Amino acid sequence: MSRPLISVEDLRRRAKARMPRFAFDYIDGGAGREMALQRSEAAFRETCLTPRVLVNSVTPADLGTRFLGRDWALPFGIAPMGLPGLAWPGADLMMARAAEAAGAPMVAATPGTARLEAVRHAAPTVSMFQLYVGASPEITEDLIARAERAGYDTLIVTADVPRPGKRLRDLRNGFSLPLRPGPRMLAELARCPAWSLATARHGSPSLINLADYAEPGASASGLAALMARQSSGRLDWQVFAEIRKRWSGKLVLKGVMAAEDALRAHEAGADAVWISSHGGRQLDAAPATLTALRQIRAALPSDIPLAMDGGVRNGEDILKALEAGADFVFIGRPFLYAIGAMRAAGPAALFEMFAAELEAAMALTGRRSLALTGA
Ligand SMILES: Cc1cc2nc3c(=O)[nH]c(=O)nc-3n(C[C@H](O)[C@H](O)[C@H](O)COP(=O)(O)O)c2cc1C
Repeated sequence: MSRPLISVEDLRRRAKARMPRFAFDYIDGGAGREMALQRSEAAFRETCLTPRVLVNSVTPADLGTRFLGRDWALPFGIAPMGLPGLAWPGADLMMARAAEAAGAPMVAATPGTARLEAVRHAAPTVSMFQLYVGASPEITEDLIARAERAGYDTLIVTADVPRPGKRLRDLRNGFSLPLRPGPRMLAELARCPAWSLATARHGSPSLINLADYAEPGASASGLAALMARQSSGRLDWQVFAEIRKRWSGKLVLKGVMAAEDALRAHEAGADAVWISSHGGRQLDAAPATLTALRQIRAALPSDIPLAMDGGVRNGEDILKALEAGADFVFIGRPFLYAIGAMRAAGPAALFEMFAAELEAAMALTGRRSLALTGA
C-alpha cells in the first residue's frame, strides 16, 4: 500500500517518483547552491509560535482576511509559476479551479502554460495576473491590455528577474524548450510512462501567452527565446511609474527584499509590496524571506500591505508569516508537488490541508481570528 499523502513532504516525494527528473528539478530547484531556497525554509523551521491556553476553541477559528481591498476566505494563495504544465498537463487550470472553489487568489504567470484568458475564465473572481516587463514595450502593453480585457483587477509586476537565475539542475539536465530528449531524458520518460503519455497527448508545455507575438507557427524554441527577452527587459522606477499610470486596478510589486525598495514601491503607487526571493531561483545569496519580512515590516508604516512567499510548507508556517507582519501569504512549489503527486485532485487537497493546519495552529495559539494576529 502506498504511503498516505498528509504533508507537503509526502506530496514532494510522490511527485518526484511520478515525474521525469528534468521536470521535477525545474520545479524543485533553485539558483546556484540553492542556499536562498534552503535559508527561506530554514527560517520557518527555526521560528516558534507560543501556545496559549484556556481560550474558547470549540468554534473553529475564522481564517478570513482582507487584502487588496477585498475579503478572502483564506489568508494564502497560489504564487505565479512558469511552466506549471510540467507537473501535469492542464496544471494551470487545475490550480485556478481549486483557488476559485477555496476563495483564495491564484496568480496566472506570463510564462504560464494556459492562456491568461483561460485562467481568468476558470477563476473568474480570484485570479490575478503576473506580468514580466520585457524588452518589447509593445508586447508588455498588449499583455496588460489582454489582462484588462479578460477582467483581471490585480496586476503583479515581478521585479527580480533582470537576469535569468543560474539554475544548475536545469543546466545539468540539459533542460530547454522544446524538450530535446537525449539518452538520459529518454530513460526518464520511460521511467514515467503515465506522465510521458499524457504530455505526448496534450503536447509538450509551451509558453502559450506569447504565441500571439511570435512568427506564425513559431517553434517552442522561438517562444522560449521570446520569453527570455520578455522576462528580462528594462524595468526601473520610471517604467513602474508608467505602468502605475496605465493600470487602473490594483498593482503589486513582487520580488522586493529591501526596506528602501518597499518604501519606494509604496510611494510609486503600489497597492501592496510582495516580499519574495523568487523561491530562491534568482540571487542565491538572498536572505530568508521571513527575515526580510520582519525587517521590512519594522521599517515601514503599518498600513502598507505586505505579501510574502518563499519556503512556506505547512499551516504553522502561514501563521508564522502572518505573525511576522505579512498581510497575505503566497505558496509556490507545494501546489505543483500536489499536482505531480495527485493530478487534478492535488490543489484542492492542499488548500484543505493548509487550511486545517492553519486553523489548528490558531486554536493552539489562542487566536479566534486573523484580526488579532501580530497585534
Ligand atoms: C517552477 C517555478 C516557476 C516560477 N515562475 C515564476 C514566474 O513566472 N513569475 C514569478 O513572478 N515568479 C515565479 N516563480 C516564483 C514564485 O512566484 C514564488 O515566488 C516562489 O515559488 C515562492 O517560493 P516557494 O516555492 O518556496 O513557495 C516561480 C517559482 C517556481 C517554483
